[in-house]
Amino acid sequence: MPSYLDPLSLEQAALARQWRHDLHAHPELGYQEHRTSAAIAALLEGFGLSVTRGLGGTGVVATLTRGAGPAIGLRADIDALPVQETGNAAHASTHPGCMHACGHDGHSAILLATAQHLSQASDFSGQVHFIFQPAEETGAGARRMIEDGLFERFPMQAVYGLHNWPGLPQGQVAVNPGAMMASQDTFEIVIEGSGAHAAMPERGNDPVVVATQMVSSLHTLVSRRVSPLDAAVLSVTMIEAGTAYNIIPHTATLRGTVRCLAPAVRERMREMVTTLGETLPQAFAARATVHYREGYPVTLNDPACAARVREVATALLSEHNVQWAGNASMASEDFAYLLQACPGAYFWLGADGAEASRPLHHPAYDFNDELIGLGVRLLCGVVGSYQL
Ligand code: NI
Repeated sequence: MPSYLDPLSLEQAALARQWRHDLHAHPELGYQEHRTSAAIAALLEGFGLSVTRGLGGTGVVATLTRGAGPAIGLRADIDALPVQETGNAAHASTHPGCMHACGHDGHSAILLATAQHLSQASDFSGQVHFIFQPAEETGAGARRMIEDGLFERFPMQAVYGLHNWPGLPQGQVAVNPGAMMASQDTFEIVIEGSGAHAAMPERGNDPVVVATQMVSSLHTLVSRRVSPLDAAVLSVTMIEAGTAYNIIPHTATLRGTVRCLAPAVRERMREMVTTLGETLPQAFAARATVHYREGYPVTLNDPACAARVREVATALLSEHNVQWAGNASMASEDFAYLLQACPGAYFWLGADGAEASRPLHHPAYDFNDELIGLGVRLLCGVVGSYQL
């Protein structure tokens, strides 16, 4: 067995935990990861890698080149969330109102340890680009890295990424030969009626009534117009109208999100929400403007790359610990942009140890350090599977 498939030494594992705790104590929001990216770059330079900073703002790419072999990309996200940490670990956030509530500190530590492990393995041959990506949560940092020339400056045959996954037991992996995460688009519908006195509705045109019809009608799109075998979810999450008990407002605004697991369904939902949003108010002699904004695409794994992850994970963990072609998540992930530009796969690393992990984005969430070793072996295994 090649040495890069060995488990981390105790010393390496302790170091990786230290890096993770340091990142956790100093979380930074998307595109503000200045300390984070400086710390990551310094470590990577220490491993003797060629390091490029500033890609996508605060992104970092480090390249290991040794001998012949295809180039493979491995990606970790590095941003934190605007959440006040309530846990009391020694490494708890020192930045008020900001914390690593999604485990991106852990993903970064896994990728750093992978970079160190591979760069120390004399029997590794090939090229690996270690991609540390900013602003996964809302800022589409992956897209910005692509716009900054990620795939032109660092050509790669495939790209892989992982996310720790509460709800899946530690020691298990889940990967699908297709959709892993949903697309996420947002809409805003501004209904314009005509303001009036609450005592004399006939003198105006009440947009609140139109808004309530709109909410009901929007919710028929998924249940009546999308096949029950296709996944889609529409949520109206905001309704804004009115300023006083006795005034019929002039406008009412609805906002919400649409998530889908297939690009064709996504496109259809966009058309249907836009058409309904624009035309339903006309039946009430009101007008509406629809703003539909495309967010993260569907995270669609390349089937061959997903099968490779499955094979590597099965060899390490045995078949019954690898979930293949299971349910995708209706949450979204900007790794989707990387997968639009390059074949690859995104997989989940079970996070529930002896104690179940808190959910992602929970104020007392803390990445499970026990996952670091397995994460490194999986990424090393995937890269190693390309060895000539
Ligand atoms: Ni995350």
